[in-house]
Amino acid sequence: MPDKQQRIPVTSSFFLTRFSNLIRVNNDPVAFFNHCIQKNGDFFKVKFPGFEFNYLLAPDGIQNVLEKNHMNYKKSMVYDPLKLALGNGLLTSDGAFWKSQRKIIQPLFNKSFIEAMCYDISVATDSFLQSIDDDPVDLTKELANLTIEIACRAFFATSEVQFSSFISAKTNEINEFMNQRILMPFIPMGMPLPSHIKFNRSIRQINEKLKALIVMAANNDSRPSLLSMLANSKSISDDMIRDEVLTFLIAGHETTTNALSFLLYLLSKYPDVQQAVKEEIENNSMDDHPSYESLQRLTYTKAVINEALRLFPPAWIISRESIEDDVILGHVVPKKSIINIPTFLVQRHDAFWESPNEFKPERFVGDQNRHKFSFLPFGGGPRFCIGMQFAYTEMLIFLVKLFRYSDFKVLNQQVDLDFLITLRPKNELQFQFVKK
Ligand code: HEM
Repeated sequence: MPDKQQRIPVTSSFFLTRFSNLIRVNNDPVAFFNHCIQKNGDFFKVKFPGFEFNYLLAPDGIQNVLEKNHMNYKKSMVYDPLKLALGNGLLTSDGAFWKSQRKIIQPLFNKSFIEAMCYDISVATDSFLQSIDDDPVDLTKELANLTIEIACRAFFATSEVQFSSFISAKTNEINEFMNQRILMPFIPMGMPLPSHIKFNRSIRQINEKLKALIVMAANNDSRPSLLSMLANSKSISDDMIRDEVLTFLIAGHETTTNALSFLLYLLSKYPDVQQAVKEEIENNSMDDHPSYESLQRLTYTKAVINEALRLFPPAWIISRESIEDDVILGHVVPKKSIINIPTFLVQRHDAFWESPNEFKPERFVGDQNRHKFSFLPFGGGPRFCIGMQFAYTEMLIFLVKLFRYSDFKVLNQQVDLDFLITLRPKNELQFQFVKK
């Protein structure tokens, strides 16, 4: 092996250190990783009891994994808990199967679908905002109801409350289970633990519901939805449709909920930014149900959304496993190495961002001279988020509507973070509408 290729720097690998690494990463991941970065730079290995992970923060290296040499990387074991629920959906599948699924599904999320969804998103947001009174509420919990209602309209073309409550309850149960499972992935699923029994029951119930819906959607083309478009496609089986639809629900629900929660928290904390957003929306005199075209004019508002996604990326870690040996930034990466890309830390790295911990939306206005793999809230390369435009549209419409009906405050002065499958606020964010 040529001298130039080095091993990935490793934190101490003594037996006891592996345990203390596990404790430290669970207690305070940001402090732990910052310590590793200071010691070893932007590509390093951490050993834990029984397994080891590599962490990659350098944008050139990230581009190699997610884009240039992406065929050499598959989803790592980090996604195994998700696989239990989502089977072979886009988020969790790999290789030729993923490629053929992506080819079928990507065209469905086209501009005309998002345009058509603007009306549904707008109506759902209206009824959500009207239903909230002036008492403080748990922001994330309330927003979860909204994002699930929007998903039910877009994916299933239904606004039936009973149906969205059912989907909401089941996706919450599945998400909770997966968040626990990621902390203890090695317990065999065959063990009859109460959490396993509950999870299996939720999956059974949601499968029955989805099966019935798929049959209905194939026989009814009066109102197009993502499900009916999939059900009418000849090249995809019912089981595959089930995996894809559940993937859209799980991948899109908590991420968008958390993104909106952090966004509102930041807007409440920075009244000047909030005022500038309000003014941009007023100056662009939006229709009651804003069109996709008109939303594209809200360039400052979109910059604010991006800055919130930079500071608080809901998908805070992206993970891959190498299939064959590779070399990243001069370091040898043997096959079967796990490479974790902690987007939270990349997007707050002082080598790539000026004043990285400050909330400065202007950095996203106009020409942006930065490495495209230093900002990746929606991932990068061929596996970037398929719901990205859908999520931006949801957030833009939410802000347009919010400022029309009300002002608001988030009563918390600071937010503590939970680094689970998604990044989310640890404590309740107390949110108060002040109706106009
Ligand atoms: C703010 C909201 C969202 C964020 C931050 C987000 C983030 C991400 C990220 C980082 C990835 C790449 C994961 C990886 O490379 O391992 C991803 C993939 C994906 N997202 Fe999203 N997402 C959001 C909303 C949505 C929505 C609304 C949907 C569904 C409509 C969705 C569906 C998916 C799917 C299916 C994939 C897998 C794509 C593939 O591998 O081909 N996401 N998302």
